[in-house]
Amino acid sequence: MLANELAFHVLGDERGSLVALEGERDIPFEIKRVYYIYSVDSDKPRGFHAHRKLRQMAFCLAGSCTMILDDGFSRESVAMSKPNVGIPIDPMIWHEMGEFSSDCILMVLADDVYDETDYIRDYSQFLEEVK
Ligand code: TYD
Repeated sequence: MLANELAFHVLGDERGSLVALEGERDIPFEIKRVYYIYSVDSDKPRGFHAHRKLRQMAFCLAGSCTMILDDGFSRESVAMSKPNVGIPIDPMIWHEMGEFSSDCILMVLADDVYDETDYIRDYSQFLEEVK
C-alpha cells in the first residue's frame, strides 16, 4: 500500500470549512517549504521524479487530479479531490501527477528547502538506486 491517505479534521460551520495543519503534529515533519501548482493542463502531467531524502505531503485543495506513486516494485494511482486529505510522498517514491481538472490546485508541504541534487529525474536511475 503506497498511498497512505491521511484525512484531517474539517472544522466546518455555516460559514464554510477550515482545515488546520500543524507541522510535527498533523504533518509528521517540520514544514520548511510550501509550494503549489495551478493553471495546469490535464494533458501535461508533472512530477516524474523521486527524492532521495525529502519528505512531502500533497493536498488537492481545489478540483481534482491523479497521483501515481511507485516504489520501484509496485505502482499505485490515487484520485485526489478532497482538500482535507493528504497523500504522503516519502523519500524514494517515484511520483507523477496528471489528469488535472482546469480548476485544480495541488499544494505540497515539504520538510526541506528546494535542492535539485536531491532529485532523481531519470526512472532507470531511480530503479538502480532503489534496488
Ligand atoms: P519541477 O520539479 O519540474 O515541477 P513538478 O514536480 O511539478 O514537475 O519544478 C518546476 C520548476 O520549478 C523547476 O525549474 C524547479 C523549480 N522549483 C523551485 O524553484 N522550487 C521548488 O520548490 C520547486 C518544487 C520547483
